[in-house]
Amino acid sequence: MNTLFDLAGRVILVTGGSRGIGFAMAEALAQHGATVVLNGRDVAALEAKAEALRTAGLKAEIAAFDVNDEAAGRAAMERINQTHGRLYGLINNAGIQHRSPILEFTTKDFEHVVSTNLTSCFYLSREAIRLMTPHGGGRIINTVSMLGVQARPTVPAYIAAKEGLRALTRALAVEVGPQGILVNAIAPGYIATEMNVPLMENKDFSDWVVSKTPMQRWGKPSELGGGAVYLMSEAGAFVNGHVLSIDGGMSVQV
Ligand SMILES: NC(=O)c1ccc[n+]([C@@H]2O[C@H](COP(=O)([O-])OP(=O)(O)OC[C@H]3O[C@@H](n4cnc5c(N)ncnc54)[C@H](OP(=O)(O)O)[C@@H]3O)[C@@H](O)[C@H]2O)c1
Repeated sequence: MNTLFDLAGRVILVTGGSRGIGFAMAEALAQHGATVVLNGRDVAALEAKAEALRTAGLKAEIAAFDVNDEAAGRAAMERINQTHGRLYGLINNAGIQHRSPILEFTTKDFEHVVSTNLTSCFYLSREAIRLMTPHGGGRIINTVSMLGVQARPTVPAYIAAKEGLRALTRALAVEVGPQGILVNAIAPGYIATEMNVPLMENKDFSDWVVSKTPMQRWGKPSELGGGAVYLMSEAGAFVNGHVLSIDGGMSVQV
């Protein structure tokens, strides 16, 4: 294998790794030699996906926990560290959406989105940094969004959380870069996943996505894999604090 993209021996935890973008990134990492640890809340779904990867000759395990449960998240990371001797990478990818007009958007719903999409990334990154530091380095990737820099109605919590996660990416990149820990983000465009089923089923919205995307289509989850491999591998050895857009050009179209 080309050593520039070789991830053999690297253990990488992917939150929200049971389906969609997270699973696609995990699959690509495993195809390049990594041992991937898939996280989500549904043990059966995680086990099925990990087994599919193992059947393909890849290295995959599971760590089921709700990212809102800090104690469970910390314990899972400790277990990974003890089992493998080192956690090399973390992808903070678990995320949820909540759509509602502002006057019906409850504070509880706002806080739940922010907790899942941002606060969890803070504490998981902190614990990852704690484990990575004695080994002289590691990698963290946060899944952000075009939303944040740009906005659409009815998703204020998601926008606030994802913009916060971009800021957290910069903050940690400058703080732990000296320790050899690189912190970057991937910003997907509109990708055909379960999260977007209501949008894909809305013909007007789906046509709008296609018309606004220079590549004239929705993205596929598998198209996020290459970016994750790049940022986890030797190829990305001097990339820090960067947001990699993978959106078919949507974010740069006027
Ligand atoms: N799809 C897009 O167009 C798009 C665009 C920009 C950014 N993103 C971001 O990309 C990430 C993945 O999105 P996706 O489209 O792949 O979504 P998805 O298909 O709905 O998958 C979400 C994943 O997150 C997990 N998850 C949700 N809540 C969790 C929690 N509390 N604890 C642990 N795991 C949890 C889900 O597993 P369980 O539900 O089984 O726990 C699942 O594995 C999200 O951060 C999303 O905001 C997506």
